[in-house]
Amino acid sequence: MTQDWNRFLSVEAKNRHPSVMKTVGGPDIISFGCGMPHSDCFPLKGLSIKYTTPDSNFKKTAIGSNEDDANSKEGASEIYQMCQYMSASGTTYFKKWTHEHIEEFHKPAFRDWDCLIQSGATLSFDQILRMICDPEIDTILAEELTYPCFLESCKPLRLKVFGVKMDADGVDVNDLDMILTNWYEDERTKKYRKPKFYYCMPFGQNPSGITMTIQRKKDLLQICQKHDILVVEDDPYFHLQLDPSAKNVPSLLKFDTDGRVLRIDSFSKMMMPGMRISVVTANNFFVKKLTMMNELSIHSAAAPSQLIVYMLMQEWRQQGFRQWIEYIQANYRRRRDIILDAFDKYLPKSLCSWNKPSSGMFLWIKLRLDKFPKLDRSEDDSEWALELEDLVYDQALKEKIYLTKGHWFMIDDMVMAGFRATYASGEYEDLYEGSRRLGIAIRHVHENLYEK
Ligand SMILES: Cc1ncc(COP(=O)(O)O)c(C=O)c1O
Repeated sequence: MTQDWNRFLSVEAKNRHPSVMKTVGGPDIISFGCGMPHSDCFPLKGLSIKYTTPDSNFKKTAIGSNEDDANSKEGASEIYQMCQYMSASGTTYFKKWTHEHIEEFHKPAFRDWDCLIQSGATLSFDQILRMICDPEIDTILAEELTYPCFLESCKPLRLKVFGVKMDADGVDVNDLDMILTNWYEDERTKKYRKPKFYYCMPFGQNPSGITMTIQRKKDLLQICQKHDILVVEDDPYFHLQLDPSAKNVPSLLKFDTDGRVLRIDSFSKMMMPGMRISVVTANNFFVKKLTMMNELSIHSAAAPSQLIVYMLMQEWRQQGFRQWIEYIQANYRRRRDIILDAFDKYLPKSLCSWNKPSSGMFLWIKLRLDKFPKLDRSEDDSEWALELEDLVYDQALKEKIYLTKGHWFMIDDMVMAGFRATYASGEYEDLYEGSRRLGIAIRHVHENLYEK
């Protein structure tokens, strides 16, 4: 059944229309229309990339070149498209590759889906926020610990975010259901407009490292369907599924028969953040609106980035790309296992605990508050948790360890003191040495508070 998705649009998005400055092309058309530079005036006529090869397990390099005639009359060549203005939704060749990629890995369950190439997930969720939410009026639901940049994007729009509880399997769907069912009765929520979407990170959740189970995904979509809200699936860690036993777990898109999931993929974590390439996959109503937003802002994601990634895919082929995914999975799996081994050796289990993430780049260290009882100087438990976090954070810095504070990820004040730690970038020996120093810092804070 086709739905009228207009009900989800912000006033801003309702007032967006396709730009009149469109290119009308065709073999017989002489254009006196758009201000597109002549291809004789493009100084770039080709592009070469040096890349690592799948058959050497990404150790050796090769060179790939593209000199696809930049002066081609039809203007359809890849180099020409890289140099010229293009469709706001992406170059034709990269969009084609992206469609095939989404089909292969996500198999969307609804028919009228489409993709938009974007300049990074951060821009993608910022545009989605503006498309759906009216500043100061709308509200959003998200996991109780969530990505700070998302919260920071909500702030200038004065959008209130409400947290939903989580457990080891992902979002607590009963809590989500309760919040939405009691929205206009609950003191906390009743003066606000009911949310139009739920924002989540299904794989290797940032910061907790939790991966949502398949059952949870199905339950989540059922609740969202019941309350008629959308889901924004921000998923840069999809290809970082680390445990061979839990590989190829599908995304939410695969179970969404309505078209209520707006999925964001990013090349940042599975390849190169500097490319600034992301993909929004959603029903084509929303993709069209987002494309209109591009037309009057970035115009389109940078074409050289699209071409570089595309050329790499042409060199690697589908099989090589799959090998690449296995290669990065093995790399991050090794790092994760090393940090877990190091934590086991060096962190005081009597004072803190941590999880074993099955995807992504992060794990979550929780201080045991029963072993750090509140001191009289703090008003309440959540204030104490915050103070304790600061104490450990500062002590870790003295030991030259940088952690991200748990409170930066919290939507509401929580009686929880924790830290996000990443194993993604450190060298193996640094993962051990850092863990040793973190262990010292935690013990030091405890001794200072209670054992002096
Ligand atoms: C959940 C989440 N979304 C988005 C981003 C940023 O992605 P991008 O580099 O594509 O803007 C990150 C990066 O840490 C992230 O963890």
